[in-house]
Amino acid sequence: MSEEPQDTTRGQDITRAELMSRPTPLEAAPRLARAIGLESDDLWVKRDDLIGLGGGGNKVRKLEWTAGAARAEGATTLVTSGAAQSNHARLTAAAGARLGMDVVLVLAGAPSEGMTGNIALDGLFGARVVWAGEVSEGELAAAVDDVARDLRERGARPAVIPFGGSSVLGARGYAAAGTELLVQDPELVTAVVAVGSGGTMAGLVHTLGAERVLGVHCGAVADPEHTVGHLVEGLAGQPAATSLRLRLDQVGPGYSALTEPAMDAITTAARTEGIVLDPVYTGRALAGLIAAVHDGQVRPGQRTVFVHTGGLPGLFGHGETLERARSAVAGTAVRWSRG
Ligand SMILES: Cc1ncc(COP(=O)(O)O)c(C=O)c1O
Repeated sequence: MSEEPQDTTRGQDITRAELMSRPTPLEAAPRLARAIGLESDDLWVKRDDLIGLGGGGNKVRKLEWTAGAARAEGATTLVTSGAAQSNHARLTAAAGARLGMDVVLVLAGAPSEGMTGNIALDGLFGARVVWAGEVSEGELAAAVDDVARDLRERGARPAVIPFGGSSVLGARGYAAAGTELLVQDPELVTAVVAVGSGGTMAGLVHTLGAERVLGVHCGAVADPEHTVGHLVEGLAGQPAATSLRLRLDQVGPGYSALTEPAMDAITTAARTEGIVLDPVYTGRALAGLIAAVHDGQVRPGQRTVFVHTGGLPGLFGHGETLERARSAVAGTAVRWSRG
């Protein structure tokens, strides 16, 4: 690759909040590479899970823009929504703490015993949680509007951060991450990334081009092609020229269900590189990469970057995955006895 990486967001970052140190590490993963059928030097991991704020993860790069803009416009309170174990909600709570803003999280579901993982961290960061019950996407959005109205009536100045942090503004965080990655690895052929609300893939596509990004749909939205495409067009300010590379084969029975390929991927990454993936996003994304190697969509001898988007707290909020991990320990454990 000969062209210089272009930072297409440079000069427009007046409202961006500084929430992380960059670049995040790009680490070789030779043992994982060989385990999934690639050559030792083919596979590298972009460690966005190591972003320092709030336990790390991709949402921080988007929040730099969305929460930064909210703060610049004089907002006092960040309001956002998500699933009960939303990584985005947890990181919005952390961003609010860092920026000195209040945070209200409107979460689908109801409080339950053993509120673990992300929910425990939401509380630690001082966010207020509003449980919206078993609601549709539209109803969750209506609940957010209600909460924001109520806050305004009480004299606060709320700013709504979109579901998953994925607006065109938020996706600029990953347009810049694409530039960061190209500086670290100009040989990049394919970046593999989990797709939820779409902003991460869209930002990468904006900078790297559609042919260099393989997105793995995780079941968070009904039509990922439309969702990501819409954001790509918003970033470019014009219709997208090339079609997106999206794998739709990793959702299984549904968004929060643990699939066998994801469990295999989580176990393989843990046992080859000591890297922890989560069952909903990064586990599915690596399972998608493994499937892509099997069917020839990703080939040995080409530089592949797995974008680790975080999600570790979600693993601790996912009973089935924890149970599988615990039973692996139980299968090997022995009790020490003296003499
Ligand atoms: C750990 C993790 N990885 C990936 C994603 C997907 O990112 P996006 O919503 O930008 O598609 C999410 C979204 O919630 C996430 O929490």
